[in-house]
Amino acid sequence: MIIIRSASLNDIPSLVQLEQSCFKYYLLDKKSFSRFIKSKTSELFVAEVGSQIVAYSLMLYRKNSKKARLYSIAVDEKYRKHKIATRLLAFGEELVRQKGMREIALEVQVENTHVIQFYQKHGYIGKKTIPDYYESGQHAERMHKAL
Ligand SMILES: CC(C)(COP(=O)(O)OP(=O)(O)OC[C@H]1O[C@@H](n2cnc3c(N)ncnc32)[C@H](O)[C@@H]1OP(=O)(O)O)[C@@H](O)C(=O)NCCC(=O)NCCS
Repeated sequence: MIIIRSASLNDIPSLVQLEQSCFKYYLLDKKSFSRFIKSKTSELFVAEVGSQIVAYSLMLYRKNSKKARLYSIAVDEKYRKHKIATRLLAFGEELVRQKGMREIALEVQVENTHVIQFYQKHGYIGKKTIPDYYESGQHAERMHKAL
């Protein structure tokens, strides 16, 4: 059974481990996870199977903006393709809706075609390509979804 819940500070070691196994660059570290968990302008959700954290998603907000930003979503490789990211996304979208916000935006590396496909499947539309978005010089696709 999968449980989706807000992250707590106790989850940080598992989150750091998950982050390191899912991403090569721009990793969130202990300090960043702690800041996002405590902040009122972000929401970090985890998916738990048994007592193990197998995925997270991070949504950011800005004061006086109706647009939320999906900053990151990641699922442990062993648990992929079981619709866990789909569930985390739906969970986050519902909370964004409940806040009266009407749009979610995100950036994804243009080479990450399977991730782009994942977002497209869930109604996200590519808005534009942003050259050299990442420090490594990689380009980003900016996508958005109207809720
Ligand atoms: C992208 C990611 C979050 C998807 O998680 P997931 O739980 O496997 O996704 P779901 O099971 O909910 O959805 C699967 C769908 O996503 C797409 N998809 C995900 N991984 C894919 C892959 N390796 N190859 C092809 N399509 C893939 C497909 O459209 C797939 O649909 P299908 O099952 O009908 O074929 C996961 O692959 C991941 O953590 N990747 C590494 C981190 C990352 O790049 N995050 C995105 C940062 S913007």
